[in-house]
Amino acid sequence: MNQSELYVSLDIGSSSIKVLIGEMNDDSLHVIGVGNVKSNGIRKGTIVDIDATVQSIKKAISEAERMIGMAIHEIVLGIPANLANIQNVKGVVAVNREDREITDGDLERVIESAQVMSIPPERELINIAPKQFIVDHLEEIKDPRGMIGTRLELDGIMMTTSKTILHNVLRCVEKAGLQIREIYLQPLAAGHFALTEDEKNHGTAYIDIGGGSTTIAIFSEGHLINTSVIPVGGEHITKDLSIVLKTPTEQAEMIKLKYGHAFYDDASDDELFEVPVIGADMKEQYSQRYIAEIIGVRLEELFELVLEEFYRMGLQDLPGGVVITGGVSKLDGIGQLARHILQTRVRLYTPDYIGVREPQYTTAVGLIRYAYKEDLFYGKIGNSQALAQMASSEAVSIPKKQKQTVQNSTNDNKESAMSKAKKFFDKFFE
Ligand SMILES: Nc1ncnc2c1ncn2[C@@H]1O[C@H](COP(=O)(O)OP(=O)(O)OP(=O)(O)O)[C@@H](O)[C@H]1O
Ligand SMILES: [Mg+2]
Repeated sequence: MNQSELYVSLDIGSSSIKVLIGEMNDDSLHVIGVGNVKSNGIRKGTIVDIDATVQSIKKAISEAERMIGMAIHEIVLGIPANLANIQNVKGVVAVNREDREITDGDLERVIESAQVMSIPPERELINIAPKQFIVDHLEEIKDPRGMIGTRLELDGIMMTTSKTILHNVLRCVEKAGLQIREIYLQPLAAGHFALTEDEKNHGTAYIDIGGGSTTIAIFSEGHLINTSVIPVGGEHITKDLSIVLKTPTEQAEMIKLKYGHAFYDDASDDELFEVPVIGADMKEQYSQRYIAEIIGVRLEELFELVLEEFYRMGLQDLPGGVVITGGVSKLDGIGQLARHILQTRVRLYTPDYIGVREPQYTTAVGLIRYAYKEDLFYGKIGNSQALAQMASSEAVSIPKKQKQTVQNSTNDNKESAMSKAKKFFDKFFE
């Protein structure tokens, strides 16, 4: 069975906006377009300036569009875990059909029935992920469709976020002229693929160290159970280097990328490099070991904050250890330092797909793969409206209406995929 589907994912990060265009085919991902631009308007993982963010999103989108000569129409959107909340929910419905066979419709209804749980007024539902279905008291069912029963129950996790956070993200995406295919909590989608099945089952912490924030997501018994965000990331390291070495931020960033090391004992003391000093016509010489000390102090503090979060979450044990990803995980020596402070097994994760073999792409890759997995399950393959024909060489200049017309004429079967995203937009903007 060869079912291929096109997806575009959007990761709105504090340091950069990532756009990936990917083709999923029988569980394998083939990346055909990438957009990655420095972001403006996002601090510590939160949108603080809508117009600046929209401009950055548009730039990243057109960068990816130029790679394939098609216009991007519909995206899979990641919601950051700041202020996200995860709770267990239950749903129950009576099976509809006379012959008691469970259908797609029953599945939809049981998930809807779990949403009826009261969501506080300042919070908004992201989505519900099923943990297990129960058919007439028979538990641990992954997919009840085709089975016979009278009563269908669902145990799932419900992810909600603050109304403001969701509103701001949706506003930016809408203003950038994009439609939404699916919305997922970022560490749910990313962690699901960065972690092995064993890690997800045994109890493991997924840690994404980005530019402005560090996201922790705990997986246990195969599911996401908790998330937390610490407002510290790679930009803090750059700032520390800039202050201590008295050098401009751009220089500090370059030095971090080229010579950075997180573990003092392993950093080289021989290789020296020159650093321009702010306001002076001179350069200072430093060794990798010298800057490793500065970087190490900041990261030690970060890992101690991670430990505090583990305690706050009431984690007794993490048999699967810790998996670290995100841009900062490229730093030499970060695994050693994390092992030293966290006192557990530490693995670094980098996505292994041509064109995106960088840990900064973990979220964007995870969003595409998660959307495909979900669409397979819910029978939504064949609905892709990810791309539209380009009317000219300038994809971004095609008006939204026109893009839709092009798409409508090539794709009829899209109602169900759109309805969910439309519900979100209707609520906020109509
Ligand atoms: N080789 C490297 N060595 C050290 N730091 C690196 C390296 N490559 C990238 N970084 C850092 O990673 C950070 C960006 O990571 P990433 O793209 O994952 O963040 P983001 O998604 O934009 O931000 P956030 O997730 O916090 O919103 C930057 O601070 C950058 O300097
Ligand atoms: Mg990120």
